[in-house]
Amino acid sequence: MNFSLSSKAINATKADCLIIGLPDKGEWPESTKAADDALGGLIKQLEKAGDLTGKNGSVNTLPLADQPWQRVIVVGTGKDKERTAASYRKALTAMVGALRDSPSKSAVIAIADTSYDGEPATGSEAARLNLIGRILEDQLYSFTQFKSEKPAARKLKKVVVQASGAGKALKDAFNLGLATGRGMNYTKDLGNTPPNICHPVWLAEQAKAMAKEYDTIQTEVLDEKQMEKLGMNTILAVGKGSKQPPRLIVMEYRGGKAKDKPYVLVGKGITFDTGGISLKPGEGMDEMKYDMGGSASVFGTMKVLAETKPGINVVAVIAAAENMPDGGASRPGDIVKTLSGMTVEILNTDAEGRLVLCDALTYVKKFDPAAVVDMATLTGACIIALGNHATGLLSNNDELANELLAAGERTGDRAWRLPLWDEYQSQLDSNFADMANIGGRPAGTITAACFLSRFAKDYRWAHLDIAGTAWNSGKAKGATGRPVPLLVDYLMTHAG
Ligand code: BES
Ligand code: MN
Ligand code: ZN
Repeated sequence: MNFSLSSKAINATKADCLIIGLPDKGEWPESTKAADDALGGLIKQLEKAGDLTGKNGSVNTLPLADQPWQRVIVVGTGKDKERTAASYRKALTAMVGALRDSPSKSAVIAIADTSYDGEPATGSEAARLNLIGRILEDQLYSFTQFKSEKPAARKLKKVVVQASGAGKALKDAFNLGLATGRGMNYTKDLGNTPPNICHPVWLAEQAKAMAKEYDTIQTEVLDEKQMEKLGMNTILAVGKGSKQPPRLIVMEYRGGKAKDKPYVLVGKGITFDTGGISLKPGEGMDEMKYDMGGSASVFGTMKVLAETKPGINVVAVIAAAENMPDGGASRPGDIVKTLSGMTVEILNTDAEGRLVLCDALTYVKKFDPAAVVDMATLTGACIIALGNHATGLLSNNDELANELLAAGERTGDRAWRLPLWDEYQSQLDSNFADMANIGGRPAGTITAACFLSRFAKDYRWAHLDIAGTAWNSGKAKGATGRPVPLLVDYLMTHAG
């Protein structure tokens, strides 16, 4: 697919499809006026007749004759006063849906001059171009690798986005949006790949392939022998019941100065979570292939960095294992010594995410991090608390937490903070070891984060529980690509 920006007059760009925004009454943006002029007042006329309204997110495709375009897609952009970043994103999503379903080979999109304000106040043309780029890639995604009947190749080949100029700032914003969308799509690909293919060693191979593709990325993989030597016994304890051996995957992106402390991303990489001996119920268990969604978002984010080359150092650490029950599996009651030296009583083998993450959190100290953010599909309780809209955020540092929340607001990839108060810590008391790996039913997301916090004392740390946001259940079953937009936005604010 070819994406570009253009600041030429709208009727100077020939394409199969023209896309314009139509406000619900209110002031028309310049591009809509220009398109209407070129179409001899057609849009005005249809609006007057009631055939077109500007209801936000509505789409109407009109065939044209004797025009530089064969059709025009009119996207409702709502009332001027009510237009927000969220409603604008909704309109863009509907727009790409209509474009995807149209027979057009090429399109010119004139919607970046539809301004919005309100919360969050990011209504600049650059922010809008970033969103257009991201939503184009995100909404054109499909995962058909395992279908024997290949869908017809996509007709759409070329998309031109109208902008006030094609200078560096606007181009960079658009390209970052496109790269973010592609990063999300990579994250989706990994999450959607079936667990008989996507196992820890396969994930490690993907990391090695990234290092081959991009000179800015370096990959190192620790196998079970190396982990044993270091004392990463909790990752090993989780992987013990599986034929697929665990791996610790380290990827480094060095785009900053040598002395700049790296931002460290840690991903939960459980390639399948049966629960282990504390076996999960059967219904919907197939979805536990996305229990590596945290690591998939780390992969996606690293890809965005490699493609856009910001001046920042980022280290990615992925704790990959498969949680299976067999004669070698950990039992409830087992006590394991973590890499930190602290001991854990495994009361429930289904609380395995925190077990692989705790050793990874200890391991990353060696990078002297500026901050550590871990991503994990950690608790079902987070879905109960926040549903599928907000990622759960827990942190030992207010400044870091606020930066991540702000990145979520700016991108619409939102997070909501939960408390990490000391009062919750005692739920992890164990009669036999330094701590238990579960804290009972109350506040399950918080006690999971409390467990992690004990291994993250030496640096600024935040934990993102993405159990509800990384995956869609039901008819649109599949990975979402979240929280790649949040992570990219956060890292970009720290790039030099
Ligand atoms: N991977 C699950 C959490 C999960 C559940 C993610 C549903 C997405 C959808 C995690 O490993 C797990 O099993 N957590 C347990 C913790 C409990 C045993 C304390 C849970 O949430 O039930
Ligand atoms: Mn589990
Ligand atoms: Zn899990």
